[in-house]
Amino acid sequence: MPDMKVNLAGMTMKNPIVVASGTFGFGREYNEFFDLGELGGICAKGLTLLPREGNPAPRIAETPMGILNSVGLQNPGVDAFIKEELPFLRQFDTKVIANISGNTPEEYGIMCDKLAAAGVDMIEVNISCPNVKAGGLAYGTRPDLAAEVTAMARKHAGSVPVMVKLSPNVTDITEIAKAVESAGADAVSLINTIRGMRIDVNTRRPVLKMNTGGMSGPAVLPVAVRMVWEVANAVKIPVLGMGGVAKGEDAAQLMLAGATAVAVGTSLFADPYAAIKVRDELAAIADRQGLASVRELTGGVKPW
Ligand code: SIN
Repeated sequence: MPDMKVNLAGMTMKNPIVVASGTFGFGREYNEFFDLGELGGICAKGLTLLPREGNPAPRIAETPMGILNSVGLQNPGVDAFIKEELPFLRQFDTKVIANISGNTPEEYGIMCDKLAAAGVDMIEVNISCPNVKAGGLAYGTRPDLAAEVTAMARKHAGSVPVMVKLSPNVTDITEIAKAVESAGADAVSLINTIRGMRIDVNTRRPVLKMNTGGMSGPAVLPVAVRMVWEVANAVKIPVLGMGGVAKGEDAAQLMLAGATAVAVGTSLFADPYAAIKVRDELAAIADRQGLASVRELTGGVKPW
């Protein structure tokens, strides 16, 4: 079998498969199904400085080949994560990536201080949540603000790698990628969800209480592959690719487009074993192609 190890910005993972933030909680429920140590890494549910209840329901709705969510960053806050969830995650032989969102650059800095001291393996800086009024997309759609948040996170994260999560809800994602690279990001992850809306034709109400939400699931895969390809060609830092991955072939597409590692997200809601299956199918593809290492897939696309 091919060597499945990958190195994402100095963080060595036993395989390239990570579970995406917001689709895995803090791992407790999935631990009932499989050993979390099977995963390359776990991106924990997005954290904020203080606990948040999130947005009012309904906040999840199905779409053809995906879902719309407007969860609004419900979470227990960074201190509760460090005290109660990180020790649980640390029992497993996998990398722990904390995902953070802030209202101000200073909040990102404070959270990075705390998480670096607590010893997470990587910090994913979310500048792309489409479901909150302050922070979120406001940072992810403007290169200057994206750079400001990145610089603050980098300054406070010490030796912990900083990966910035990019939004697809922009005209040119490479502009944001280049801005965060220049500001010190060690890696980028993409794509976060695509803004969408569904309307109940009988009530004439949007199906989500917040009217709009973020779309994810298999329908967004081609957008993710295109954006990973564009970003991988625009920056030198590594890319964690995500968006609609449900099969090993999907993960292979993102790696060929330039991703070093791949996150599985929405498909976990339909199949808790999805990430494990993607890992095994990816290994089988690399094996069939006679590769010594899965790393040989990264950037291997042959554009016409
Ligand atoms: C949410 O909690 O609203 C989703 C987070 C995100 O899309 O970044």
